[in-house]
Amino acid sequence: MIQASSALRVEAKEEGFSFSEHDFERVRTLIYRQAGISLNPGKQSMVYSRLARRLRHTGATDFRSYLDRLEAEPAGGGEWQEFVNALTTNLTSFWRESHHFPILAEHVASRARERPVALWCCAASTGEEPYTMAITAMQACASRTPPVTILATDIDTAVLDKAQTGIYGEEAVARVARGALKEHFLRGRGPNKGLVRMRPEVQALVRFRRLNLLDERWPIDTRFDAIFCRNVMIYFDKQTQYRVLHALAARLAPDGLLFAGHSENFTQARDLFELQGRTVYRLAAGRR
Ligand SMILES: C[S@@+](CC[C@H](N)C(=O)[O-])C[C@H]1O[C@@H](n2cnc3c(N)ncnc32)[C@H](O)[C@@H]1O
Repeated sequence: MIQASSALRVEAKEEGFSFSEHDFERVRTLIYRQAGISLNPGKQSMVYSRLARRLRHTGATDFRSYLDRLEAEPAGGGEWQEFVNALTTNLTSFWRESHHFPILAEHVASRARERPVALWCCAASTGEEPYTMAITAMQACASRTPPVTILATDIDTAVLDKAQTGIYGEEAVARVARGALKEHFLRGRGPNKGLVRMRPEVQALVRFRRLNLLDERWPIDTRFDAIFCRNVMIYFDKQTQYRVLHALAARLAPDGLLFAGHSENFTQARDLFELQGRTVYRLAAGRR
């Protein structure tokens, strides 16, 4: 559908929204400023197809006028949020990178005997990850009401809306173990056939909220026992990663754990975190 008619231009055959190299550079600058996301130069087609929907929706005739209007909007305006929502990548799944969950289970079990446990999932996307954390906590404490709370945040309000419903297509749970499926999900019937829903006890453990990791100040003063920050740092440059890690370190309990995604490593922040296991970190010695 998209043709590169010259090095400087990407045109869509059907809609013909003009999208120049300059427009692309503007998008890159704006999404970096808004969300810390570093889009690499090969992402022109992706940006085109994701933002073309916004052009259609707002009635803009080309990228330049869309971006002019966007930039004229006050910070925090509705189209800014739509712009960010359109450009985030939200791939996730239940029990993704499953080796983390037995570690989380042990960590939760050993603490929950004595006091409430606080967990944070800071790039929660459509909710599969924080709900997996909730089920893990229930299993670890052998209770449907464990003394555990999970804060689940993301910059993208559309994914948070979906997460909050706790409703998924059956394909989302195709690889979930049968026992867990039966115990923690409800299967839709009649008009809801083909859908599953998280059981209310699972949902009760998770609180969703919008939070931009790039914000100077986070309205969070909890010291979490564990933070899941998986598969979001890959979109940030090293400088932004360090800034976010610095703020995360201040929110982690002295004996807390930070879980990272499979392709993320925080070796540039050795003063903040040290590796404890496969993509699992704890605070560096001087910070515990
Ligand atoms: C690829 S998903 C990862 C979801 C989940 N953590 C996982 O590993 O399955 C990345 C998520 O990071 C979110 N994100 C991107 N930039 C962000 C920012 N500046 N602040 C908070 N969340 C952000 C996106 O909206 C997206 O939902």
